[in-house]
Amino acid sequence: MNGRSCLAIVLAAGEGTRMRSRTPKVLHTIGNRTLLEHVLSTAMAAGGAGIAVVLGPDHDAVAKEARRVAPQVAIFKQTERLGTAHAVLSAREALAAKPADVLVMFGDTPLIQVDTLARLRGALADGAAVAVLGFTPADPTGYGRLITDAAGLAAIREHKDASEAERAIGFCNGGLMALAGEHALAILARIGNSNANREYYLTDAVAVARDMGLNAVAIETSEDDVRGINTKAQLAEAESVLQQRLRAAAMEAGVTMVAPETVFLSSDTKFGKDVTIEPNVVFGPGVTVEDGAVIRAFSHVEGAHVGKGARVGPFARLRPGAQLGTDVHIGNFVEIKAATIEDGAKANHLAYIGDARVGAGANIGAGTITCNYDGYGKHKTDIGAGAFIGTNSSLVAPVKIGDGAYIGSGSVITKDVPAEALALGRGQQTIKEGWAKRLREARILSKNGSPAAKKP
Ligand code: UD1
Ligand code: MG
Repeated sequence: MNGRSCLAIVLAAGEGTRMRSRTPKVLHTIGNRTLLEHVLSTAMAAGGAGIAVVLGPDHDAVAKEARRVAPQVAIFKQTERLGTAHAVLSAREALAAKPADVLVMFGDTPLIQVDTLARLRGALADGAAVAVLGFTPADPTGYGRLITDAAGLAAIREHKDASEAERAIGFCNGGLMALAGEHALAILARIGNSNANREYYLTDAVAVARDMGLNAVAIETSEDDVRGINTKAQLAEAESVLQQRLRAAAMEAGVTMVAPETVFLSSDTKFGKDVTIEPNVVFGPGVTVEDGAVIRAFSHVEGAHVGKGARVGPFARLRPGAQLGTDVHIGNFVEIKAATIEDGAKANHLAYIGDARVGAGANIGAGTITCNYDGYGKHKTDIGAGAFIGTNSSLVAPVKIGDGAYIGSGSVITKDVPAEALALGRGQQTIKEGWAKRLREARILSKNGSPAAKKP
């Protein structure tokens, strides 16, 4: 970023009991990404080449997620929860390498943005030993208050320890902090625990730095940036902020959304140019939508690739492994799973296509089902280019339909069909001339008291 080395220490030893969940707090998701992944990705994007994560005991699942996101991560354990400064010191080894900048981040504060971290680092580059994020919440209760003077930031007072006058200050500590690596260990080592909670407060780094003749500053940011998550309700609020950001970014990049507030995106959703998203569309993880595609109302799309100019929905479901080529049409009540639908192919109504390939230009009639599961394993259906699958056909996999073949509607296809052939797999139609008329006449006779009606 600014050429200075940077270590990000992510504190995630929180208990998270208020989430009322078996899942550790930082493994909850917003935008289909764990809170931890949000924090780690932002740290890396802000130049944090070194990453340290501080965990509580029994946090193997959290360590695994940290390694998945940032393979270079160093994991440290804080066995006793003695405060935020104590937590940072658990990563003493990483600090000993004296990176130029140290970013202390919270695993439960996922909305922090790269630009905000860059501003914190900028303050260190300008000579501050400690830079904290300040914000003005609607209700400051519970937050540390920022006490400023002519020289900058003098101290942070935790709510519990603050006097009446200090509690009247609206400018609060967002929690995250940047420390000059050169002084970080010396500052942290001087922090004591003589406060209401008997905790080692990271926030005391400010007063300690000032005592050592060093500078501390507050950088102002928005409440959303430093929104911490302790409850499911706060998780939902953070989701809502993230969704607004994702929608705004998509529209900024040229996506047309008729009713953006009804569209749910994933952090990794990728759009080309001139894509249109109608109302009430949900994107799960792993979706790419290419130029000019239209996703119509009430569609659910995850793990899918939608090719150029393709049309999906309304009411379509694309499940993981759905690969739609250029100009493919997938219509209402069609479900596609682990299937490649090649250029120009169409499945416009009521179909299930799973574990399949549908060749270019093929037409899948309404009610077509690939019977991919036999109760034990999954099998493949291969449909050739230009094939025509008549309505209400069951294709019992494994099965291959050749290029240009024709399947008569209502067929149950259990054997491969050669290219250009017609396959019929259904009961023969029989005609009984005059049968209906004879029935009707016999019924009328019996109603009028004539001899018992005979079947025609
Ligand atoms: C902290 C700040 C407060 C600020 C607020 C913003 C301190 C002392 N106070 O308070 O000034 O206004 O954030 O939300 O920093 N953690 C550990 N080990 C510990 C204690 C905490 O890993 O021993 C982790 C938690 O998991 C969490 C983070 O540190 O991710 C912050 O701890 P938390 O208890 O939420 O601090 P706050 O009381 O919110
Ligand atoms: Mg907190």
